[in-house]
Amino acid sequence: MRVVSGIQPTGNLHLGNYLGAIRNWVQMQDDVAGDCLYFLADLHAISLPHNPAELASNTREMAAALVACGIDTDRSILFNQARVPAHAELQWLLNGTARMGWLNRMTQFKDKSGKNREGASIALFTYPVLQAADVLLYQATHVPVGDDQKQHLELARDIAQKFNNDFASEDAPVFTLPEPIIPKSGAARIMSLRDGSAKMSKSDPSDMSRINLTDDADMILQKIRKAKTDPAPLPLLEKDLEGRPEAQNLVGIYASLTGDSVQAVLTRFEGQGFGAFKPALAEVLIETLKPISDRFHALRADTEALDAILIKGAERAATLAAPTLAAAYKALGLQR
Ligand code: TYM
Repeated sequence: MRVVSGIQPTGNLHLGNYLGAIRNWVQMQDDVAGDCLYFLADLHAISLPHNPAELASNTREMAAALVACGIDTDRSILFNQARVPAHAELQWLLNGTARMGWLNRMTQFKDKSGKNREGASIALFTYPVLQAADVLLYQATHVPVGDDQKQHLELARDIAQKFNNDFASEDAPVFTLPEPIIPKSGAARIMSLRDGSAKMSKSDPSDMSRINLTDDADMILQKIRKAKTDPAPLPLLEKDLEGRPEAQNLVGIYASLTGDSVQAVLTRFEGQGFGAFKPALAEVLIETLKPISDRFHALRADTEALDAILIKGAERAATLAAPTLAAAYKALGLQR
């Protein structure tokens, strides 16, 4: 087994990232017999307008946040994409296999380019090919992600399959088909606190829409108190949460943080309104996030230590990437 996953180093780590992906990254360090590679997708971050100085500091900050969440850099390989040129190289090689029609179907490109499709960068369009390169480069078997990345992982499998069919023999495929690992509970898609139909996201202009892993207790309490809800009390049965996306989201977050089922949470809070439920939710959030935030603040200032972690990680990653990159060049008839 080999686990590979990435996160864009844009802005803060938020609760959606944590419950949807990072918590699984941490858990898989214990559960998986094999390498875990986790990276900051700084090459992906240039697909949207960005500030270069901020990208450099956000990359280190995100590294500090991941270590604070429990990524152990002795056991896992933590690095930033830009330090391993094989990612960009393999993307180019895969560009010959990926089809325009496949990329045209990617919902993230449609969402992010919005009405300005013609003005979007080429990088935003070919973003999923780089993401395919990220995982295929290491022969990843398992890719822990939130639900919003499922389509990109399916594309990675399609690219791998077509490349193997076109350029490799059946008994010696160049690429392994990766399997997405998506949380089963509500954590697969944590929604905005202001709108139960939009996912919690770094790009939402309102900071009140998300819980950041660095928010202090007062801020968490305020955000949960102001979170959008409806006037009805909590029902006894899970099916009665249907059509109540904000209630569903908050109960799902509570369940995911405590490890209880949604049904167990409802059995406990049945008949109570949000006046009672919200403070209880804020309390579990504060309890979970406080140690992470304390560790983050202790780590973030030591830029030398963070750079050393990323440089060492990149060296280890480059070594693991080399054989697959060489095999891809060779399969295509390219001499190097
Ligand atoms: P990114 O940086 O948007 O998010 C990082 C991880 O957090 C998950 N996530 C969520 N999960 C549940 N609810 C939410 N509201 C929520 N918001 C984000 C994402 O699913 C993701 O797992 N393209 C990727 C980065 C990437 C990557 C890769 C991932 C680049 N190469 C290779 C896996 C494998 C992205 O932008 O994730």
